[in-house]
Amino acid sequence: MSKKFTVAVVGATGAVGTQILECLEGRNFPVQEIKLLATASNAGDILEFHGQPVTVEEVKQDSFEGVDIALFAAGPAIASQLAPVAAGAGTVCIDCSSAWRMDADVPLIIPEVNPDALAGYRKKGIVSSPTASVVQLAVALKPLHDFAGIKRMVVSTYEAVSSTGNRAIDELRVQTGELLNGRPAKVDVYPHRIAFNCLPQVDAFNDDGYTREEQKVIDETAKVMAATIKTTATCIRVPVFYAHSASVNIETGKKLTPEKARELLKGAAGVVLVDDPAESEYPMCMDAAGQDEVFVGRIREDKSIANGLNLWVVSDNLRKGAATNAVQIAELLVEKYLQ
Ligand SMILES: NC(=O)c1ccc[n+]([C@@H]2O[C@H](COP(=O)([O-])OP(=O)(O)OC[C@H]3O[C@@H](n4cnc5c(N)ncnc54)[C@H](OP(=O)(O)O)[C@@H]3O)[C@@H](O)[C@H]2O)c1
Repeated sequence: MSKKFTVAVVGATGAVGTQILECLEGRNFPVQEIKLLATASNAGDILEFHGQPVTVEEVKQDSFEGVDIALFAAGPAIASQLAPVAAGAGTVCIDCSSAWRMDADVPLIIPEVNPDALAGYRKKGIVSSPTASVVQLAVALKPLHDFAGIKRMVVSTYEAVSSTGNRAIDELRVQTGELLNGRPAKVDVYPHRIAFNCLPQVDAFNDDGYTREEQKVIDETAKVMAATIKTTATCIRVPVFYAHSASVNIETGKKLTPEKARELLKGAAGVVLVDDPAESEYPMCMDAAGQDEVFVGRIREDKSIANGLNLWVVSDNLRKGAATNAVQIAELLVEKYLQ
C-alpha cells in the first residue's frame, strides 16, 4: 500500500487555502490526517474534508509536530516566520506566497516546467510556488522556448481580484451591487474603485516605477524558465473575479510560425489550445474559472520583427496559479522523494 501523509494547510480559510482543500480531495492526495490552520479569529470554524468535519486551529510555533507536508497560503509574513520553524521540525513546506521565491536555496517550481529543480528542496526544506501570472506564462511558453529559444518577451497581464484574496472578492461584489443600485461605492482594498474600472497598479510601486507584481513577473520568469529571457511587464487589475489573462509578445532565436506553435502547444502538459478566430473561439476568464489548465489562443505572427509571435494566455489564478500548482508540487515530492 502506498504511504499516506499528515498534511497541514496554513491559511485554510482563505481564497487559496479553500482551493487547496478542494485540490487535495479532487486529486485524491494520499492524506492520512489533515490539520487546518488560520488566525485566532477563525479558530474553531468547521470546514469539510472528504465529507468529514475538521476544526480550524490557530497556527502556532508547535503546530507542525508530526506534519509531513505543510502547504502555506497565508501570506509572506507568516511564511517567513513559520516555514523555517516547520522545516526545522522535519516538515516539507510548500509556500504560495512571495516570501521565499527568490531565495537561492529555495526551488521555485512549476511541475510542467522545471520539475528537476525540486531536488533543491533539501537545502531548506522549503519549496515555493510562483506568482499566478508567472505560472500560466511559463506553462504556456516553455514548449515554445524549448523549440525556438525565447530571447525577449513583452507581457501585459489582466489580473482578477481574487489574487488579492477574499477581501477583494467581496469588494468587487459589493461595489458592483452598490453602483448598479445608484449608490456610491466604498473603496477599501485597492487605491481606487475596481468595479467598472481597470487599475494600472497591481501591488505597491518600487522606486523605478515598476510595481512589485511587474518585478515578480520579470524575476520569477527568469528563475523558473531561463535567466537568458529578457522580460518586461505591465500588470493591470481588472474587474474580474477569477482567472488572469495575459497578452504576450515573444521574440525567438529561431523562427516559430503560428502553425508550429499550435502544434507544440497541442501536446503540451497542462495546456489547452483554444484558437479558432473564425468561430470567435479564444481563451476567456469565464471558461478558465474553476479549471486547472492554462488556455492559449490568438496565436499570430508579430510582423514588426523577424521572429515574433503574439499570444493570449488565460488561467485560474486560484487553481493552477496557486492551489493546483502547490498540490502538484506535493505530488511530485511524494513521488520522487518521500515514499
Ligand atoms: N489569490 C491568488 O490568486 C494567489 C495566487 C498565488 C499566490 N497567492 C498567495 O497565497 C497567499 C494567500 O492568498 P489568499 O488570496 O488566499 O489570501 P486570503 O484570502 O486573504 O487568505 C489568507 C489566509 O491566510 C490566513 N492568515 C493570514 N494571516 C495569518 C497569520 N498571521 N497567521 C495564520 N494565518 C493567517 C487567513 O486566515 P484568517 O481567515 O483566519 O484571517 C486566511 O486563511 C498570499 O501570500 C498570496 O500572495 C495567492
